[in-house]
Amino acid sequence: MAGMGVGLVGTGYMGKCHALAWNSVASVFGDVERPRLVGLAEVDTDLARRKAAELGFATSTGNWRDLLDNPEIDVISVTTPNQFHADMAIAALEAGKHVWCEKPMATSLADAERMLAAQRASGKVAVMGYNYIQNPLVRHMADLIGEGAIGDITHVRVEMDEDYMADPAEPFYWKSEAQSGYGALDDFAVHPLSLLSVLVGLPVEVMTAMAKPYADRPARDGGRRAVENHDIANVLMTFEGGLSGVLMANRSAWGRKGRIFVQIYGSNGSILYDQERMNEFQLYDRSGNPANHGFRSVLTSGHHPIYGKFIPAPGHGLGFNDLKIVECRELLSAIAGRPAHVVDFEIGLKIERAVHAMARSHAERRWIQTI
Ligand SMILES: NC(=O)c1ccc[n+]([C@@H]2O[C@H](COP(=O)([O-])OP(=O)(O)OC[C@H]3O[C@@H](n4cnc5c(N)ncnc54)[C@H](O)[C@@H]3O)[C@@H](O)[C@H]2O)c1
Repeated sequence: MAGMGVGLVGTGYMGKCHALAWNSVASVFGDVERPRLVGLAEVDTDLARRKAAELGFATSTGNWRDLLDNPEIDVISVTTPNQFHADMAIAALEAGKHVWCEKPMATSLADAERMLAAQRASGKVAVMGYNYIQNPLVRHMADLIGEGAIGDITHVRVEMDEDYMADPAEPFYWKSEAQSGYGALDDFAVHPLSLLSVLVGLPVEVMTAMAKPYADRPARDGGRRAVENHDIANVLMTFEGGLSGVLMANRSAWGRKGRIFVQIYGSNGSILYDQERMNEFQLYDRSGNPANHGFRSVLTSGHHPIYGKFIPAPGHGLGFNDLKIVECRELLSAIAGRPAHVVDFEIGLKIERAVHAMARSHAERRWIQTI
C-alpha cells in the first residue's frame, strides 16, 4: 500500500505537532509506509504557503475545503480551534477521508453526536488527539492495574493544571470565548478523562463546581472583554461499582506547566503519575517487609514497549511530541484494520458526555449521570 496522503488544517501549536508526527512516524516505527504530506490549509494563502514550506507539505491553500476535493488526500488532521472541529471532521468524513481530530470533539454534545454518526456512515477511521494515553508508562500502569498489581481500585484522583492563563494581564483570545466551550472542562478535563478511560473507566455520575478567577481580560483592540467560560473546574465522580474519584482542572495555576497528576489507590498499593515527569511513575506495593515500604520510582525503558522504537538507552526519556508520533502510528494501524490503542469517536463521545454532564451539574448544582 502506498503511504497515506495527508491533509492538515491549522498549523498552530497542534498543527505543528501533527506535522512533526506525520514527518517522523515511518522513521520511528519502520513498519508503516512513509506518509505523503499532500496539502495543508490555513486562514490565508500567505500563511499557508509559509507553513507548507516549513512543515514539508507539497501544496497549500487558504480554504480548508480545497483539501476535501483532493483525491491524493486519504486522511485529514484537524488542528483548528474547538468550534471548527465538528464541521471540518464531518466534511472530511463525508468526502471519504479518515480523520485525526484534536480534542475536544466539539463544543456541543449534538455536534459530537453528529461527528460519530458521520464516522459510522462513512466507514472511515476517526481518531481523537488524546496523546497522553500513548505514553508507554501509562500503558504499563494500565497493565499493572489490569493484572491486579495494586489490588482492587479504591479511589482515583486526577488533576490537570497549567499557568498559561494565570496572568490576569493575558489578553482575551479564543480559549476564553463561550463558542470554544466551557473552558477548563473542554480544554483540560477531557485529557484526564482520556487517561481514566484506559486506566479505570469513565465516571457514571458527576458533581461539579466551576470558577472564573478573572471576570475580564484585556481585549486585543483596547478596552476589556468579559471572560465567557470557566478556567477552573472541581468535579466529584462516581464510577461503576461505586468507586469514587475527584477531578480538578485549572488553567490559571501559577507554576504548573503541564501537570496531569494521576493518583490511583488500591487495596494492595498505589500508583502515582505526573505528566510533568512523564518518564517515571511511582509504585507503592504493600507486600514484603513493612520496614521497607515506600513509593519507588520506575523510569521508562525498553521494558515498556514502544519506548525502544525511539531510543535504545533506558531512562533517557520521551517528550510530548513523541506521544503524538505514537498516536499517529496507532491511527495508521486503525486505518490498516489492525488493533489500535486510540480514543476513537465512540470513546470520544463518551468523554464528551462526561464533560457535558459536568457542565450541567455546575449549572443545576446537583449530581448528574453521564450516560
Ligand atoms: N492534544 C493536546 O495535547 C492539545 C494541546 C493543545 C491544543 N489542543 C487542541 O488543538 C486545537 C488547536 O489548538 P492550538 O493550541 O493548536 O491552537 P492555535 O491557535 O495555536 O492554532 C490553531 C490554528 O488553526 C488555524 N485556523 C483557525 N481557523 C482556521 C480555518 N478556518 N482554516 C484553517 N486554519 C484555521 C489558526 O490560524 C491557527 O494557526 C484545539 O482544539 C485544542 O483544544 C490539543
